[in-house]
Amino acid sequence: MKAFLVVLALFLPIINAQVPHWGPCPEPATQPAFNLKKFMGRWFEIAKLPAQFERGRCIETNFTLKLDGTAHVVSSEILKGELRTIDGTCVVEDKKNPAKLGISFSYVLPYTPYWILSTDYENSALVYSCTDVLRLFHVDFAWILGRTRSLPAATVDHGKEVFTNNNIDVSRMILSRQQGCDKDL
Ligand SMILES: *[C@@H]1O[C@H](CO)[C@@H](O)[C@H](O)[C@H]1NC(C)=O
Repeated sequence: MKAFLVVLALFLPIINAQVPHWGPCPEPATQPAFNLKKFMGRWFEIAKLPAQFERGRCIETNFTLKLDGTAHVVSSEILKGELRTIDGTCVVEDKKNPAKLGISFSYVLPYTPYWILSTDYENSALVYSCTDVLRLFHVDFAWILGRTRSLPAATVDHGKEVFTNNNIDVSRMILSRQQGCDKDL
């Protein structure tokens, strides 16, 4: 019981931000033969399942491969007129399935799953992150990323369809605000 409460306390901030779903995480198909190197560079957030820790606009992430095979991650957003950045590390967590990445934004935090369900490397990517809580319920995040600040509606719709076909509920997915980002802040 004590352990249960500790786990609950650890996850409470996430649970607050997201609606937990009953049961363990779904097991979606991921990008076959994922190539981390081709995934590097700049990705813009086009749509997402709302997450409390991402309230800004113009959200983008820049991945840079390091010599040790991990990637340096810089995420940025504009919040209240200020550019905010956060640094992290991205690793391949499952050598047998290189599309199963993990990202950590702090040395003290564990890696959070960052699974590439699908990408063509040049236009768009579908990313999924799910955390089981005692296999009783799970909390998840999903993103549609683009190499440009906007993607055709058909691409976004198709992305949602892929999530849905993998038993991921994206009915609450919202478009990210990417307007007015390249002007002066
Ligand atoms: C992404 O990171 C690389 C390496 O730090 C840097 O050279 C590049 O300018 C960055 N790109 C953007 C758009 O910030």
